[in-house]
Amino acid sequence: MSFQAAGREAGIFALVNAFFDRMGSDERFQTIWQMHPDDNAVSRDKLARFLCGWLGGPKLYNEKYGAIGIPRVHAHLDIETPERDQWLTCMAETIAEQPFAAEFKSYLMQQLFVPAEAVRRRVAARKETVE
Ligand code: HEM
Repeated sequence: MSFQAAGREAGIFALVNAFFDRMGSDERFQTIWQMHPDDNAVSRDKLARFLCGWLGGPKLYNEKYGAIGIPRVHAHLDIETPERDQWLTCMAETIAEQPFAAEFKSYLMQQLFVPAEAVRRRVAARKETVE
């Protein structure tokens, strides 16, 4: 099960903390870093809790924050292909450093592309409606 392969809650929270640390310390991820609030503790908590449920573990996001639709919560942001790719690259580099099995690392990145692309499409649809 994916939740196990990611090291359960501890592994997923470690992944998300490393992801945000990397985003904040690398110029290449500046655009998406600046979209987040200055205090990103809640963003970290939300992403980690979401991923626990998304990977087949306990639905920790829903327990604390309620229902969520990933494209919907990003619809107001300015996310086009470069921003989607900043997010995916930052995640890929972070995942590469985690103590996960090699096969799980590539599987996880393939799976994450799906919601990341759904976010980009949702933002594009919102912009078309406005313009
Ligand atoms: C496509 C590139 C993405 C970018 C640039 C991005 C950026 C952001 C930003 C800036 C926020 C904070 C918004 C705010 O506080 O106002 C956020 C929230 C969040 N993101 Fe993303 N995100 C991306 C993709 C994803 C993906 C693929 C997932 C899940 C697999 C995800 C999960 C979340 C969650 C759970 C939240 C918290 C939503 C809430 O409760 O308000 N994001 N994202």
